Amino acid sequence: MTESRPRVARTGSRPGHAGLPRLLAGLHSSGQVLSALDHERVHGPLPALRGGELIEMVQRSGLRGRGGADFPVGRKLRTVAAMGGSSRGGVSAVVVNGSETEPASSKDRLLFTALPHLVLDGALLAAYAVGAREVIVNVNESAEGSLRVLEGAIADRGDSRVPIRVVTGPDGYVAGEESAVIHRLNGGRPLPTFVPPRPFQRGYRGRPTLINNAETLAQIALIARFGDQWFRELGTSADPGSVLVTISGAVATPGVYELEFGTPIQDLLAAAGGLTERVQALLIGGYFGTWVEYSRAAQVRLARTDLRAMGATLGSGVVIALRASACGLTESARVVRYLAGESSGQCGPCVHGLAGISALFDALAGGTASERERLTLERWIAEVRGRGACHHPDGVARFAQSALQIFEEDVQEHRLGRCMARRVGVPVGAPSGSSAS
Ligand SMILES: Cc1cc2nc3c(=O)[nH]c(=O)nc-3n(C[C@H](O)[C@H](O)[C@H](O)COP(=O)(O)O)c2cc1C
Ligand code: SF4
Repeated sequence: MTESRPRVARTGSRPGHAGLPRLLAGLHSSGQVLSALDHERVHGPLPALRGGELIEMVQRSGLRGRGGADFPVGRKLRTVAAMGGSSRGGVSAVVVNGSETEPASSKDRLLFTALPHLVLDGALLAAYAVGAREVIVNVNESAEGSLRVLEGAIADRGDSRVPIRVVTGPDGYVAGEESAVIHRLNGGRPLPTFVPPRPFQRGYRGRPTLINNAETLAQIALIARFGDQWFRELGTSADPGSVLVTISGAVATPGVYELEFGTPIQDLLAAAGGLTERVQALLIGGYFGTWVEYSRAAQVRLARTDLRAMGATLGSGVVIALRASACGLTESARVVRYLAGESSGQCGPCVHGLAGISALFDALAGGTASERERLTLERWIAEVRGRGACHHPDGVARFAQSALQIFEEDVQEHRLGRCMARRVGVPVGAPSGSSAS
């Protein structure tokens, strides 16, 4: 992987005022970690908030989770606090979901390796707000850099009212699903469990648990300091604030960018140095995401309403530009094969359905699938939706369905033995701009 520095789309404003960078303020150009002292110089001290003050602020801010499910964060905080209040033993922990199992994403690793105190601040503030006994930061075994920096940052901060520790979990796409993270913390294998109960009901140590994505908690650290009105100064009324987006594929400077919601997709690509060649489609939302024709995507903004109109969501904040000279069908078959192999093997429709879908995708890409098999593929995609204990099959179905639509013409070309791709690279792989280890 080549190194490229994360960048921001708009710079020059101090944090605490409208403008960007917010999350990425203070980021060293070398990617060097921001010390506790420097972090405080950039953002100010950790605010002391009373009782439910933080929860109300977060609710008013309209912040939504950045781990992919897009859930309202204030509502989750309120629910966990209430569950803790009514259960013996209270809330066991705030778990930072830093698994970042999406291969095309590197935003959480960037936060951990360069700006760890922002995430730790947010986790602590959330722990105080919901009455949690400890903070547990969960990172992947392979993210050695994140682990090392986080341990150093925790030591650097000194004591806090609530203890913080870092744990590592295995790599693997479904290991980052929240019930899998909790199951592993409880001593089990890192496999999703059937819900309910959900972590907010019965999570770590069998008690109510708050689990949030690392970026979500970093956003909380800023809202607590500067307020919900400040948060809403960027973005749109429906999608307030800024978001970290990992941009890769056919762009000049792939990497992690902080953008405000409502940014035109054209500007998003320009922030990543612009397109390096003609592009046929964008994959929005990562491996659980949606292919959108470039001509359509280029007309819209980075906003839930705009993306939803094209059947897409931002997921965990991933945009990949697929060059015109690559084969979308072959790339999609590769992603589906990877995702099918990542099934945790617990639910029949997921295990067998995804394996079948992957085999038919391979046949489509190989030009050997009949029209009947293509129709079967569509039926299987529809049938696996909602049939798993977790949303893994739903994510695969969304990706596969969009690939069938966008690359429809390629299916016919492949049958005729004509793959139009001049160069089949790996545009749908891990971004070369990943700056974190
Ligand atoms: C298969 C699968 C994998 C997931 N992997 C991650 C992950 O690596 N990191 C993450 O934060 N959320 C992941 N999620 C989403 C989590 O289950 C959960 O929604 C999220 O951690 C909640 O945090 P948020 O509300 O702050 O977004 C995954 C979900 C699924 C279905
Ligand atoms: S749906 Fe798939 S990944 Fe999710 S628990 Fe069932 S088998 Fe595992």
